[in-house]
Amino acid sequence: MTEGLLTAAYIIASILFILALGGLSNPETARRGNIYGIIGMAIAIAATIWGSQVTSYGILAMAMIAGALIGGYVANRVEMTGMPQLVAMLHSFVGLAAVLVGYASYMDPNSHLQGVEKTIHQVEIYLGVLIGAITFTGSIIAFGKLQGVIGSKPLLLPARHWLNLGLLLTSIWMGFVFVGAEELAGGISPLLIMTAIALLFGIHMVMAIGGADMPVVVSMLNSYSGWAAAATGFMLANDLLIVTGALVGSSGAILSYIMCRAMNRKFLAVIAGGFGTSSGTVASSSAGEQGEVITTTAEETAELLKQAKSVVIVPGYGMAVAQAQHIVAEITSKLRSKGTQVRFGIHPVAGRLPGHMNVLLAEAKVPYDIVLEMDEINSSFPATDAVLVIGANDIVNPDAQDNPDSPIAGMPVLEVWKAETVVVMKRSMATGYAGVENPLFFKENTRMLFGDAKASVGAILANI
Ligand code: TAP
Repeated sequence: MTEGLLTAAYIIASILFILALGGLSNPETARRGNIYGIIGMAIAIAATIWGSQVTSYGILAMAMIAGALIGGYVANRVEMTGMPQLVAMLHSFVGLAAVLVGYASYMDPNSHLQGVEKTIHQVEIYLGVLIGAITFTGSIIAFGKLQGVIGSKPLLLPARHWLNLGLLLTSIWMGFVFVGAEELAGGISPLLIMTAIALLFGIHMVMAIGGADMPVVVSMLNSYSGWAAAATGFMLANDLLIVTGALVGSSGAILSYIMCRAMNRKFLAVIAGGFGTSSGTVASSSAGEQGEVITTTAEETAELLKQAKSVVIVPGYGMAVAQAQHIVAEITSKLRSKGTQVRFGIHPVAGRLPGHMNVLLAEAKVPYDIVLEMDEINSSFPATDAVLVIGANDIVNPDAQDNPDSPIAGMPVLEVWKAETVVVMKRSMATGYAGVENPLFFKENTRMLFGDAKASVGAILANI
């Protein structure tokens, strides 16, 4: 393939990736966005395979077949609830790839760069390995936290900011030693020392972030993986990888900003860690002190819905776990056919992935125009007859507004308690992801409907 053709293919692929990102920003165009992405990636892979840099098709074919088989198997098996962990794991691969490419590129015996070009290449390698290593371990810790293998409480080492500063300064110093080294042997030790520091920093950074701030971490690591890919692109002088990496890096950064705004957090404060430290209200053990909960049944809830003129449904992570969205969609269409106004209230961090609830509701064919964002629905609660909270917890916690000591203090929440009656469906009094007690369950106008969300909504549907 000629250079001109390769460049043309890369430009077309880049444009398709931009169109893909644009499409994915809205559920109605997401499918089209995905198709653009698939075509763009197919062009990119084909152009790279036929490019001049490939020297052994055998190795390439083996790697691609192994990758495609593992990818296909994992994607087929993963449940919607396991997606965040999978995404975190995939980010770690991008980070690891950047580290490995960095080392390979530094030790490449065929590289004959001299003078300024050599220095620039060394800076690219150093930054690529640095970002890659942080992304690698940071993503593995994020995977562990999302999977529940590692506790969501932030790890707060004494003088952690000084520790981070020390690690940063040592990395910068090692960078000068690395770039100044004449021989390969002289440069490898500072590179190794920096890699070890960056790996440790990745672990420390994510360990220090509390459960409630995990959405920001996920999108932040998404952004890092993009920058790691862009750095790999610089090391390999591959323009498409630079563009694609920059697209992922910047869209991840924008998403992190949106997440921070949704949670009323400052980005730098999240990165510095430590949120979720104050004990807040202790979990179920203090339930007694909060008063009694009033339970209800599926029959009573169905009756309530039949009487209501306006209903708001607030889905959360539990709806995803129970896979209750299809029955919820059926209840919605049944109530709407009776003339009841039904709307959905979606919190920006509901579930475990940005847009998690929107994807589930779109899958169940709930009309988009009744699915509203938190800011759009919050003012409607006082005029709402019944709210169904389905497997949601942290996103409807009034403590975020009322208790300045709460780990989620200041996070905007869906003000469901302002409605006439709230029915909360969950299996027990257990806390949500942030691990904090929820006073909503003890309010006078709250009714608890215990049980698996799918079974509960199924019984409600049968009674409507
Ligand atoms: P959570 O606060 O995690 O609450 C989910 C509730 O669902 C739990 O209290 C659980 O109670 C219930 N549940 C679980 N399985 C159920 C089932 N089969 N049937 C019925 N109920 C079930 O979820 P949320 O309200 O959606 O809030 C999201 C939380 O996740 C926030 O803290 C957010 O910061 C965090 N987070 C979000 C993201 C993104 S990007 N969205 C990423 C990482 C973390 P029981 O065990 O009693 O049933």
